[in-house]
Amino acid sequence: MRILVVGGGGREHAIIKALKKNPDITEVFAAPGNGGIAKDAVCVDIGAKDIPAIVEFATKNKIDYAVVAPDDPLVLGAVDALEEKGIPCFGPRKNAAIIEGSKAFSKELMKKYGIPTAAYEIFTELDAALSYVKTCPIPTVVKADGLALGKGVIIAMTREEAAEAVTDMMANAKFGASGTTVVIEEFLIGPEVSVLAFTDGRTVKPMVSSMDHKRAGDNDTGLNTGGMGTVAPNPYYTEEIAKVCMEKIFLPTIDAMNKEGRTFKGCLYFGLMLTPNGPKVIEYNCRFGDPETQVVLPLLQSDLLTVMQATTNGTLAETEVRFAQRHACCVITASKGYPESYEKGYPITFTEEAEQHTYVAGAAIKNGALVTSGGRVTGTTAVADTLKEAIREAYRLSDGVKFENAYRRSDIGQRALQAKK
Ligand code: AMP
Ligand code: GLY
Repeated sequence: MRILVVGGGGREHAIIKALKKNPDITEVFAAPGNGGIAKDAVCVDIGAKDIPAIVEFATKNKIDYAVVAPDDPLVLGAVDALEEKGIPCFGPRKNAAIIEGSKAFSKELMKKYGIPTAAYEIFTELDAALSYVKTCPIPTVVKADGLALGKGVIIAMTREEAAEAVTDMMANAKFGASGTTVVIEEFLIGPEVSVLAFTDGRTVKPMVSSMDHKRAGDNDTGLNTGGMGTVAPNPYYTEEIAKVCMEKIFLPTIDAMNKEGRTFKGCLYFGLMLTPNGPKVIEYNCRFGDPETQVVLPLLQSDLLTVMQATTNGTLAETEVRFAQRHACCVITASKGYPESYEKGYPITFTEEAEQHTYVAGAAIKNGALVTSGGRVTGTTAVADTLKEAIREAYRLSDGVKFENAYRRSDIGQRALQAKK
């Protein structure tokens, strides 16, 4: 079988490595992939958002199955375009990807179907939003409606900050068209959990839960990033809570999307907050999380391609999705300065052992050598019988990834360890 994976980050590298365990797969292509992925797949120089070029490549190269991993191409309709040419895909169609593509859509969906989430108001006029933040409860959360690389969320601790965020988004177009509509919502408190779930539109099979570390600095300080590390499972997500989430959130969401004529197939990502009033949805993503995938897929014991195809074919109910009862930790090594400005082009070296456990995100090949090309450069994952051991091993292996100006948080997994105690 010939597989095409659309995307080019650590998540896509983890997906490709997991897919390749299936001996039926003879060739894997990545569009665009990256310098590190090039070890495991044939990288083709097509951007993940260039849908016509992706479709042309897939057709010419007789791709049997395509995995569309990032949010942008999904929201732009990559799956629809590939399916039109008869290429089966993993991922939702455009009309379902809107669950991530528009926060206003997802909030209205949750309200309509009684799915627990933060209370909110939607604004399309600056004046109305400004007058709302003069009286709303503080802190409050201001969110750009559209995709903004995870950066379109401002937690405002004061009215002034809320007014500034609203003005930046609506009048100064800080997030482009993504911010012409804003959602202003209730500030929630509680541990955060990421749950990725396979679904074929009828059956939902959640994967092992995980915990992201979004801030750049130790002890959750500094700016929000795309994620500096992850652990799985998330110790806050007990079996009891999982049951509540299935009943009150996962199944109702699948049902709601069906009722709206927007059947969701693929991986639905539930960003949850475990509040004193029960679990609530912070966000939906229409795809695998990054770097959640880098801890979840190494624990998957079932064949990834088989499960993915079951979501496409509607046979997920009969398909086994089994995870190892073990622990995983992924430590991101970033370019110093990320998520703001940072230098690129530094050569990357690995010990053999580190390379085997590392997913490459921001790296390119220049004059035959692997060099840094992005903010998050690598993610190194270890799997062990205990969380403590997984953390220790992930850090030990990360030390085998070397480049100038490398930066990593030193406390990935520590909060999870405390929670276990
Ligand atoms: P999002 O991009 O929607 O995942 O938001 C980014 C981060 O902002 C989340 O991971 C939370 O830590 C935080 N956040 C988002 N919405 C809320 C909320 N209503 N209350 C408290 N924190 C929030
Ligand atoms: N790690 C958060 C995300 O993928 O959106």
